[in-house]
Amino acid sequence: MKILAIESSCDDTSVTLLEADEQKIQPIEEKTASQIEVHKKYGGVVPEIAGRKHAEKIVPTIEAVMEDHEEPDAIAVTAGPGLMTGLLVGVEAARTLSYLWNVPVVPVNHIEGHIYSVKIQGEKEFNNEKFEFPVLSLVVSGGHTEIILIEEHGKYKKIGGTRDDAAGEAFDKVAKMLDLDYPGGPKISKLATEGDRGAINFPRPMINSGNYDFSFSGIKTSAMYWLKDNDLASMRPTGNDFSHKSAFEEINGDPDIITRYDFCASFEQAIIDVLVEKTINAVEEYKPKTLIVSGGVSANKKLRSNLSEKLTQLKNKNRPNKTLHPLQKYCMDNATMIGIAGYYHAKNKDFTPWQKLDANPNWKIY
Ligand code: KG4
Ligand code: ZN
Repeated sequence: MKILAIESSCDDTSVTLLEADEQKIQPIEEKTASQIEVHKKYGGVVPEIAGRKHAEKIVPTIEAVMEDHEEPDAIAVTAGPGLMTGLLVGVEAARTLSYLWNVPVVPVNHIEGHIYSVKIQGEKEFNNEKFEFPVLSLVVSGGHTEIILIEEHGKYKKIGGTRDDAAGEAFDKVAKMLDLDYPGGPKISKLATEGDRGAINFPRPMINSGNYDFSFSGIKTSAMYWLKDNDLASMRPTGNDFSHKSAFEEINGDPDIITRYDFCASFEQAIIDVLVEKTINAVEEYKPKTLIVSGGVSANKKLRSNLSEKLTQLKNKNRPNKTLHPLQKYCMDNATMIGIAGYYHAKNKDFTPWQKLDANPNWKIY
């Protein structure tokens, strides 16, 4: 089945034409117009600007993808959750194409897209990785931090989530305090690789709360106070300058001097410790056969390695048969993941007539 997928819920206008069946999920054309350069100036996504940019880019992006191809069998579009200004643009494009081509359309939930992003495994073979149920999924991104239990395709139960900031949001806000560009997660984690993770003892909020909820605004606030009360060693890199080798070698490793590397490493570790602890506790309680960790923050290598270490320490009977992460390229928002989730709905003829298709910025799947 060929599916045209559209994602515009945040700051990427992303369009994919893909071919999917039970064995293989193969992207045929993928195009994304990123708005990062525009939103960088503001340190985060500005909804009005995002909407305008999506409106500018949606038709050229669809055109570029469909240029050499026939009409698809179905259209999949992110209908929520996300920014209303962006969702409306994608949904209107999907409605128009559905009417023009007389092709059915499926609304896809953005979170469901992140969960299904792990189905593509193998950069060349494009295997359709099977889910063994029950599946436990940690979705961790700029907008979401949730643990979801999935009993079968389409049956979701949220077992925990953030009460305030998402983990990626905390990365982005703290990065801004350090004058690092949006999105800050990848920059902080790059600096963190060379720092001392124990240099600053940031709190691990709710780590022992006995449930699967998160709170990341406290870590962010303590990072802010730490920066107010202390001086980071004045060494490069400042801002986004990563050309730091000589200064780094001079003072890094001196326990009396706290550098930007140490700060980033300590901050990153605090977030990772909470994510890993809660996920492992949930694995022990729900004993999933498949564990999925996806969303923008799942690109974080330290998160992946810490989690994998803890999983190997679990008793055999508690350990999932497989742990799936998206390929790096599908961690961040992309239309391909929307097409994959859309495939399962289309297979079940779970279509919505274009007249009834609507954007819902608060759409929940559980
Ligand atoms: O999934 P995504 O593209 O958008 C949302 O649905 O929110 O996630 C983007 C988020 C940003 O907050 C970004 O800082 C974070 O993912 N991120 C990371 C890393 N790469 C991206 N956070 C920590 N470490 C990373 N390596
Ligand atoms: Zn996302």
